Amino acid sequence: MAEPISESLQKKIEARLRYHEDLGIRLFYCERCAARISDVSTAAPAMPASPIPVVEESSLPKSASKPKLQPEKTPTPRRDILPPATGPSLFEVVDRVKDDTLLKIREDIGDCTRCKLHKGRHKIVFGDGNPRAELVFIGEGPGADEDMQGLPFVGRAGKLLTQMIEAMGLQRKDVYICNVVKCRPPENRAPEPDEVTTCSPYLLRQIDVIQPKVIVCLGAVAAKTLLETTRGISQFRGEWLPWRGRRLIATYHPAYLLRNPNAKGEVWKDLQKVMAELGLQVPKKNKS
Ligand code: URA
Repeated sequence: MAEPISESLQKKIEARLRYHEDLGIRLFYCERCAARISDVSTAAPAMPASPIPVVEESSLPKSASKPKLQPEKTPTPRRDILPPATGPSLFEVVDRVKDDTLLKIREDIGDCTRCKLHKGRHKIVFGDGNPRAELVFIGEGPGADEDMQGLPFVGRAGKLLTQMIEAMGLQRKDVYICNVVKCRPPENRAPEPDEVTTCSPYLLRQIDVIQPKVIVCLGAVAAKTLLETTRGISQFRGEWLPWRGRRLIATYHPAYLLRNPNAKGEVWKDLQKVMAELGLQVPKKNKS
């Protein structure tokens, strides 16, 4: 019989398997496993300089860390890089609310106790910014600072997001920023499927009301939720994808950038695509 393994080793193996799953790797051969696990480098590849400033690491959402491999480049953005969703779409079952507004959505959320996240929250973090924004950024869920202030992306990852927005020639008030879940997950863990299922209809209504031209998913949680895929973000990061009549692009979460500043160049390339799509001036020498 196999020896039982310690809880900490089990956690490490689970984390490693999740990492591989994010890379689309699901089959393992036992004999090669041990060698491979210790061989895998987690260092991010060096990327071109970006105007996104260096910010020190802080208490970041744990789940914001994402795969380190360079995604495959393909010339045209396509939905077909994602497999068709199995089962009914989460969003098909969301009733369209007639004459919906952000205010109505906020009122419908109320003092929400629909999922377990309400137990640890201080404030619901609904969203912030221009209700008619052409550009919406979607993160995964509030952290400690957001939970205290009731505003999205106001902590250190938020400061970096603000700098990214400004590097695009915009201000926070020009865009809309929100999250997949509106209450802080404990210990900044990733939101769990039942929490995402409960909360994301409100996100969908927010997007339907705002009607942005472009949606930027910050990190895997937002991307996987909206695209209803289990594929790792590295498989479609930086690719334009059609989403309910809008254009969606997924990029790395700012918290991931705080830990992996080398990935800023990739994110900056993604943001330049967004700038071009919105008719904003893209710096010539950085055009890709
Ligand atoms: N990370 C997120 O995903 N959202 C926030 O609002 C803050 C940090």
